Amino acid sequence: MDVFEITGPTSLDGTVRVNGSKNASLPIMAASILAPGNSKITNVPHLADISVCNELLTSLGCKVTRGDNGDISIDSSVVDNPVGEYEIVRKMRASICILGPLLARYRKAKVSMPGGCAIGYRPVDIHLRGLRELGTQIEIENGYIVAEAPKGLVGKEIFLGGPFGSTVLGTANVLMAATLAKGITVIESAACEPEITDLANCLRKMGAKIKGTGSPRLVIKGVRQLKPVEYSVIPDRIEAGTFMVAAAITSGKLHIENCRLDDLMAVVDLLRNIGVTVEKNSDGCVVTRTEPIRTAQITTQPYPGFPTDLQAQFMALLSLAKGNSVVIEKVFPDRFMHVAELSRMAADLRKEGSTIIVSGVNELKAAPVMASDLRASAALVLAAMAAEGTTVINRVYHIDRGYERIEQRLNPAGAKILRKSE
Ligand code: EPU
Repeated sequence: MDVFEITGPTSLDGTVRVNGSKNASLPIMAASILAPGNSKITNVPHLADISVCNELLTSLGCKVTRGDNGDISIDSSVVDNPVGEYEIVRKMRASICILGPLLARYRKAKVSMPGGCAIGYRPVDIHLRGLRELGTQIEIENGYIVAEAPKGLVGKEIFLGGPFGSTVLGTANVLMAATLAKGITVIESAACEPEITDLANCLRKMGAKIKGTGSPRLVIKGVRQLKPVEYSVIPDRIEAGTFMVAAAITSGKLHIENCRLDDLMAVVDLLRNIGVTVEKNSDGCVVTRTEPIRTAQITTQPYPGFPTDLQAQFMALLSLAKGNSVVIEKVFPDRFMHVAELSRMAADLRKEGSTIIVSGVNELKAAPVMASDLRASAALVLAAMAAEGTTVINRVYHIDRGYERIEQRLNPAGAKILRKSE
């Protein structure tokens, strides 16, 4: 297992380029199941989760080839094993998004029920509710979701809201299933995340009829068949936001290329309010911090609200603000694995339910810490670059799930991140 040794404090100064979006790539790769033939997805990041998705599609019968430049070719002419095995699904929850496409193409599917997760309980009841509404019979047997639509899927008006708002992958599943359903499907309370818009744009290029993209009301007119596609995924807004915090927490200056600021309005607004400069340019932005960090109140919400996937990184940043900040998690109420580890680095954090009170400290200090999940780990990398001394982060594979070789991208800008294999 690799560890990071990160020496701080550093002040970043340089350029980083944002890769393609992990969370857009995964459902788009699953969408290739809908159209027999050869699809080519470009701008896909080299990440552990993408490799798991390749493994999953291969296990179904697809032929998946990865080019050096990030392209992935998926030949889905033959899908003769519509089963998402536990051994693969347990490595990546997003595997659940093959359920909708398999049902649409084969009228049946068996996918392992996703298990526990470091960021809290993550049920899939809304996915199943939506697919049942389209005419699927679903049973849970031996830990598997066993789904069948003997008469085919039929469009319907479906409400997909849940206790924490919309569901991103739930929307992806029902949307993909509805593209080949008979008649019209209306999804109310659909997720509006840019990754869903990207999926809808890809599906449209495949021949799907979808209206309302980017809004909470999607109207899908089912078509008889879809055609294979060549599609380039959007840049990763969460990686971009993480780089923005990297510039801010190190009092540095980063040119962030291939970054769509429109996808990050809540984040940019917050950064500007706490004293960080974000200047838009033709391909991204320049993020600079020259003044002390001011306090903030953050409430995570579905898009276009502040993203839960940047909550941990901003907690690290606000640990160095002058005064008390409040962070409220409204999407995953237990997503706080980073709190104990940041506290080991001398952050002053107090947990009250799903709220963290962050009392700013003058400096963070190096410590041995444990990466627990993807975004929590990113927060530790950020804190370590600002902290005095050498921080050792164990279980770096969590970071590798969502950030491609982060050390090779931040070190040229002045970070001191050493990867060691143990
Ligand atoms: N929820 C339910 N029932 C469901 C589905 C969701 O109650 O059937 C609840 C969840 O427990 C949560 C809330 O609804 O409280 C939102 O969950 P959502 O379904 O939107 O999450 P997801 O689709 O499983 C995606 C991203 C996550 C990101 C969330 C929220 C992918 C592969 N994953 O997960 O990304 O945090 O949306 O934006 O797209 C990450 O990249 O680190 C990551 C965890």
